[in-house]
Amino acid sequence: MILSVNYSTKYVMSKKVKGMRMSTHLSYADKLILAPMVRIGTLPTRLLALDYGADIVYCEEIIDHKLIKCRRVENDILNTVDFVEIDGTVVFRTCAKEKDQVVFQMGTADPQRALKVAKMVESDVAGIDVNMGCPKDYSTKGGMGAALLQHPEKIKQILTTLVENVKKPVTCKVRILPKLEDTLSLVHVIESTGVAALAVHGRRKEERPNDPVHCDVIKVISESCSIPVIANGGSRDIIKSYSDIAAFRRLTGASSAMIAREAQWNLSIFRKEGKYPMEKVIRDYLRYAVEYDNYYTNTKYCIQQILHEDMETDAGIALLKARSLLEICAIWGMEDFCQNTLERRQKLIDARDEDRRTVKRRKLMDGSVLHQLYQPFKTKKYDSEKFPKVQLFEVCKQRKWPKPVFSIEERLPDRRFQCIITINNDKYQSTAWERSKRAAEHASSTVCLQVIGELTRSSEKEGKCHSLERSEVNISHINGDQKSITICDRKEKTSEVNSQTYCTKSDTR
Ligand SMILES: Cc1cc2nc3c(=O)[nH]c(=O)nc-3n(C[C@H](O)[C@H](O)[C@H](O)COP(=O)(O)O)c2cc1C
Repeated sequence: MILSVNYSTKYVMSKKVKGMRMSTHLSYADKLILAPMVRIGTLPTRLLALDYGADIVYCEEIIDHKLIKCRRVENDILNTVDFVEIDGTVVFRTCAKEKDQVVFQMGTADPQRALKVAKMVESDVAGIDVNMGCPKDYSTKGGMGAALLQHPEKIKQILTTLVENVKKPVTCKVRILPKLEDTLSLVHVIESTGVAALAVHGRRKEERPNDPVHCDVIKVISESCSIPVIANGGSRDIIKSYSDIAAFRRLTGASSAMIAREAQWNLSIFRKEGKYPMEKVIRDYLRYAVEYDNYYTNTKYCIQQILHEDMETDAGIALLKARSLLEICAIWGMEDFCQNTLERRQKLIDARDEDRRTVKRRKLMDGSVLHQLYQPFKTKKYDSEKFPKVQLFEVCKQRKWPKPVFSIEERLPDRRFQCIITINNDKYQSTAWERSKRAAEHASSTVCLQVIGELTRSSEKEGKCHSLERSEVNISHINGDQKSITICDRKEKTSEVNSQTYCTKSDTR
């Protein structure tokens, strides 16, 4: 059968290994790691850190409650996987380039919520980490971050649940406790859960970034652990250049080093040949920010950190005033690059939208014809007694056709559904992935009703059809013939473009 991707087969295979501790490719030994940093650790920063020499990159901490509200979207314009809130905000964006090196860090205080989040992202990332070191109120008040350090039992539950049920390696990032013996006993609890590595920020919860990092404590932890220890906390004090990273590893006896602030100021800290000048880092960063349509507000914030002590310069002042990615790019002479990229992207979006309005007819090997159209189901468009599936049954009855047969396909990672309807040896399918089987059946019923010219929406019933612009839906046949039908659909097209592109939200370029 000529169907798109057979998700069910692909993911059923991965389901079979559930429950087993899968060996994975990501090793945390002898690595240079970009630390998790809120607002900094978004996709452009992570990709640039990898280009400059980091082996592993952590995303910014994402709170479990926030990710659970998201849906997973394969963004075919940017070639990314996006986890998107209902209002269109992209909470986590990742891409193939970092898939084997990106670690997803979550904030959580609950094993089941943690597991739910890990299952949502596990196919798209290389590792899962739990933040157990954040001392900020917003984290500790919810029992997350450094608050967990007082509850080894809770830590054990969270990590065990993850290790036993997630197919990617699990780690956590902690701070040290006031007493060495307490720190060591905590570390051993963590180690006993089967985590792949342990990141240690060598400061206590109440210590500030300017307080000296306790390399001696990290060293004792490294010596008493059999899993790789990732030393963290050396920026500024110890690490100012690439060669200092080796010194930090020697001082802490750790297998790997994780860098936050030095990377925030200059990501090329990961280059063994030495740091690049600030302007080059900003331009390299901007290339990724534009390519991956990073929110301009986040882009601006990250560049402010790179400018760091140079915010009073002309560039710094212009940056503060910038209100779009284009304006930011113009400061560093990259407006043509930005403009061209945006125009190219718009062409892709236009082509995709045109394609989605075209019903494709494919001849399948069993001789039947599959009609496909991208047609997400919108409840509000129909009266409850006239939902598309109901209409379809009525039409089949009137035309004395056999009852339609519904076959559901499930995409496991995000539990989305598609449906193929068979009537009279013809098949109909909406290529949109729906939240429920019911919605998938209605969506494909809509496609069928449109193709046979029988669809009634609630506005048509009330005679309001012409408040919506009429638009053409092309039907392209595999032999190249074309004919067109007209449906009431125009208004939806606009909102669909925005929600499926996930490029803008509040940003204006
Ligand atoms: C801007 C910023 C954001 C941070 N966000 C996180 C975070 O999301 N998760 C986390 O575990 N630590 C976070 N941290 C702490 C760092 O990961 C790191 O532990 C700390 O800065 C010490 O490392 P350094 O000396 O290399 O900066 C953040 C630090 C900074 C400066």
